[in-house]
Amino acid sequence: MKFQMSPRLLLALAFSFPALAEIGNAPCARCHPEIARQYARTGMANASGRTAQSTFKESFANPTAALATISPSFELQLAATSRQLEWFLGSGHIGRSYLFRKNNQLFQSPLSYYSQPQKWDVSPGYENRPYLELTRLVEPACLQCHASRLQPASAPQPFLDPGVSCERCHGPGEKHAAQPTARNIVNPAKLAPIPRASVCAQCHLTGAARIARANRDRSSYTPGEPLSNSLAVFVWNSPTADSPSATSHFEKLATSRCQQASGDQLRAGGDQLWCGSCHPAHADATPAQYNQKCQTCHSSGSCKANAGDACITCHMPKRAPTRSIEHLAFTDHSIPRRPTPPTGPPATGSLKEFWTGLSNPRDTAMAYAAAAVSSPSLRPSAYAQLQAAAPANPNDVPLLAQLAQFHERMGRQEPATTLYSQILTLDPTHPAAAINLGTALIRQGKSTEAIALWLRALATNPGLIGARLNLAVAQFQSGNHPAARKSLEQVLDYEPNHPTARQMLNQIPE
Ligand code: HEC
Ligand code: HEC
Ligand code: HEC
Ligand code: HEC
Ligand code: HEC
Ligand code: HEC
Ligand code: HEC
Repeated sequence: MKFQMSPRLLLALAFSFPALAEIGNAPCARCHPEIARQYARTGMANASGRTAQSTFKESFANPTAALATISPSFELQLAATSRQLEWFLGSGHIGRSYLFRKNNQLFQSPLSYYSQPQKWDVSPGYENRPYLELTRLVEPACLQCHASRLQPASAPQPFLDPGVSCERCHGPGEKHAAQPTARNIVNPAKLAPIPRASVCAQCHLTGAARIARANRDRSSYTPGEPLSNSLAVFVWNSPTADSPSATSHFEKLATSRCQQASGDQLRAGGDQLWCGSCHPAHADATPAQYNQKCQTCHSSGSCKANAGDACITCHMPKRAPTRSIEHLAFTDHSIPRRPTPPTGPPATGSLKEFWTGLSNPRDTAMAYAAAAVSSPSLRPSAYAQLQAAAPANPNDVPLLAQLAQFHERMGRQEPATTLYSQILTLDPTHPAAAINLGTALIRQGKSTEAIALWLRALATNPGLIGARLNLAVAQFQSGNHPAARKSLEQVLDYEPNHPTARQMLNQIPE
């Protein structure tokens, strides 16, 4: 009898090979102690961690912002509530953001530390709000760039390795640690140009929109592969050297004569200029070291100005850091002949995928939708592209959620409601779909269904303040005053200064 393997069994076997595991910094440091010691002093190694275990020390001389205070033990005090800030993001070179936990969810602190003035102040994006919010969930993207070996949101620790770990640039090290040969580990310097640049681009290529490929999680990138396998990064179509819309080091460097003239990035091999041509792998360089790197390609006589060896002071000038621009390049990586101050408003218009210039309709639609948040002129195009891409991607939750929100924005409630139901069958805890479908149900007088939907969303995501406030209104309208009171008290437990919740609580009869 012939044994035949069913396609199902084959598929199961293909997935049964475990992905290589990450083992963390400690084993690497045992065999590569000198590199580990050097690297530990860089900003990247310290890009996140526990507040209690940090070499950088915040000053508490001026701990008071307008509406909240902070104690030297990192207790944030606000109204009658306090939150323990347990983790930081940012080495403190420019500033720091903080995270706290409540009921198994991780939130961003409304206060940040600003290193140059040495003071605590409202976090970027929290200005001009009616009250200091305590329920902004930390975006997974923040942790993906600032921390390593991330854990599920409900785990006691959000990450196992603070900062950028060895394996973020070298790939999973399990096999190499057991059998320490060069073949078992990624050395970025030995990769072709695109996979090599991708190692840094996973965190340093911000662009105008970063879109996770359909069915890929943005954390699924592994060193050695091109970033575009897991993530499509879109940039404005024609950033020029002096354009403020080229925000990342990658975009700026791509406009430099140095990179353009030293080789086509898409061609394999060669000694094209890349991040690692100037930045040593495991240490911060001194100005003298950078100037020496220039002279690996330029003789000191090649400078028309013939102005001495401090090349970078003239050709890579710095902007002064200001508030809220942690994620812009400070040092001009377009390496201009003469310093060129940014002119005019950011160039917008059209988007293209970095490196390839091409992308598929789904990812392009998602990129226009993301960029339309800050560039409203892109909205009609984003809406049309989302509608065109949807039929071919009927189970694509992120795409459907964007389209539903555009339907709503354009006042088309009905197709939005249909999509929200569809999304909830694919992902029963999708917060935006649950909140918005509930609102639609309320409008149709179906408050029982809406209440059930919101209770379910809140069970997995108790910090959704908008949903809980809606729930309180629905409970009140259906005559259940005790339940409405309880919901409002829960809102105030998360957001003690929520003005609407306070008002409503005072108006509900006992
Ligand atoms: C048991 C000791 C040991 C451990 C643990 C170990 N290494 Fe190595 N590593 C070595 C040795 C030995 C070599 C030299 C191998 C060779 O030249 O064939 C090496 C080489 C390397 C190279 C150079 C590869 C190349 O192409 O030149 C890199 C990169 C590297 N290790 C990174 C790491 C990282 C990252 C970790 C932790 C995940 C790690 N190592 C853990 C022993 C170790
Ligand atoms: C996993 C994300 C990640 C990867 C991969 C990564 N970086 Fe970084 N990098 C960061 C973060 C976050 C910071 C800011 C650190 C801080 O808080 O000061 C940073 C800072 C830097 C700095 C400023 C100096 C310093 O140490 O703070 C340089 C230069 C730099 N990175 C170069 C590189 C190069 C070159 C590569 C690729 C070989 C690379 N980075 C890969 C996340 C990353
Ligand atoms: C795409 C990767 C990426 C994401 C996402 C990201 N960061 Fe960063 N962050 C960086 C890099 C790289 C730097 C270093 C400065 C630079 O290159 O612009 C940095 C710098 C910072 C700094 C200043 C650190 C210093 O030098 O003192 C803070 C604070 C910070 N980020 C917080 C956050 C927070 C909070 C979020 C989420 C809202 C976030 N970052 C999301 C990559 C990222
Ligand atoms: C930001 C990215 C990045 C991080 C993080 C990083 N490396 Fe590297 N590493 C590189 C690059 C790039 C090279 C190639 C340097 C070259 O040859 O130009 C390299 C080379 C190496 C090498 C072989 C060459 C040498 O210098 O001996 C070893 C070993 C190594 N890394 C170990 C480590 C260990 C251990 C850690 C963690 C403590 C670490 N790396 C963290 C980017 C990184
Ligand atoms: C990998 C080689 C390489 C490195 C490293 C390099 N350059 Fe260049 N650079 C070039 C090439 C090639 C050109 C174009 C040919 C030319 O004009 O000489 C260029 C052009 C320039 C120009 C003229 C720009 C223009 O718009 O006309 C300046 C200025 C310059 N480089 C400065 C620097 C400085 C400063 C550094 C160090 C921070 C540096 N370069 C590092 C290869 C390099
Ligand atoms: C031609 C040399 C050169 C190349 C290539 C280069 N850098 Fe830089 N970079 C510098 C210099 C010089 C500084 C300023 C360092 C300082 O002030 O200590 C800098 C600073 C930085 C910083 C700190 C923040 C800032 O803007 O001052 C980051 C992050 C960074 N570079 C990332 C990158 C990345 C990512 C790449 C590849 C896309 C890259 N660099 C390529 C020379 C270079
Ligand atoms: C005091 C400021 C200053 C310093 C320091 C400086 N340069 Fe320049 N460099 C200039 C200016 C200004 C020009 C443009 C001259 C022109 O346009 O006629 C220039 C032009 C250049 C060019 C373009 C030459 C051409 O016409 O193609 C290169 C390459 C260059 N510099 C490299 C360097 C290198 C490498 C260093 C360090 C060894 C350096 N520069 C140091 C100011 C400086």
